[in-house]
Amino acid sequence: MTLRLAPQPSLILHAPAKVNLYLRVVGRRPDGYHDLETLMVAIDLFDTLTFAPVAESDDPDLLSLSISTELPAAANPEAVSSSTAPLPVAPLAVGDDNLVLRAARLLREETGTTAGARIHLTKRIPWAAGLAGGSSDAATTLLGLNQLWGLGLSLERLRTLSERLGSDIPFFLSGGSAAICRGRGELIEPISLGQSLPLVLLKPPAGLSTPRVFQRCTPADPGFGATELVAHVQDGRFDRAATQLFNGLQPAAEALCPQVVDCRQLCETADVLGHLMSGSGTSYFALCATRSQAQTLAARWRQASGYAVWAVSTRV
Ligand code: C5P
Repeated sequence: MTLRLAPQPSLILHAPAKVNLYLRVVGRRPDGYHDLETLMVAIDLFDTLTFAPVAESDDPDLLSLSISTELPAAANPEAVSSSTAPLPVAPLAVGDDNLVLRAARLLREETGTTAGARIHLTKRIPWAAGLAGGSSDAATTLLGLNQLWGLGLSLERLRTLSERLGSDIPFFLSGGSAAICRGRGELIEPISLGQSLPLVLLKPPAGLSTPRVFQRCTPADPGFGATELVAHVQDGRFDRAATQLFNGLQPAAEALCPQVVDCRQLCETADVLGHLMSGSGTSYFALCATRSQAQTLAARWRQASGYAVWAVSTRV
């Protein structure tokens, strides 16, 4: 009689995007990075990752990644021809430098595990958008494979590991939905905002490379910090919070990409509390007074702008 163990079920996890409500470039560092003070908040726009275990004997290629997209066509027309068609990326074409695969390999190297996984990524977060979709996918891969492979690494250990993969990744392993991040992004002060902000998120077709935007930026102090903004949100004073939205990378992004200027000008014509580019762009968001205002405005802009548009809320 052969004893068959029940196959281990797949694990499905959702990876949220983030926006930066405040981003001050404090200064350039000798290592080529920039010191930042930034308020990052997760939003309810998600990629989804499915992790299926692979027994060692099953597959010589123990780690594989496939990707499909559910992006609105307007989000990335240069990359995606149809909103639901899979990208032309069979596992081989995904590329070794993909952050999901790099996160998986890092876990194997660190722990010595010989376990494998078949990973499927459903992309809904546009890339080159300043929404940290790739970073969130990498963080979720560390969490997912830690669980799938029974590695038992603490959140703190995963966070430390993640610093090697990218500056935005530790935020997604901070255990909360909002944080003030300093250093190059890896020094995390978790924050409870206690309120969900209604936003309209715009993504013009063009994308921007993060290094290019940082190269072009000039460090500047707006004269206020992220903590004032946090206090206004916690008090439910979204109108006051709107006056403190700040992104020191926006002038550089506007100089590199006229579509960011178009987004700002579109928001300036609308009756919104405030607006800002997220991260290094090109995505742009408007802060609304209510969720229903955000939904109405999103429907209007979806028709009129030719951009990808979402009504989203920040996560509490
Ligand atoms: O850390 P990550 O690989 O995501 O950063 C991508 C690029 O963005 C860096 O190579 C650097 O050019 C720029 N960057 C920066 N300062 C930061 C974060 C990123 O200059 N704090």
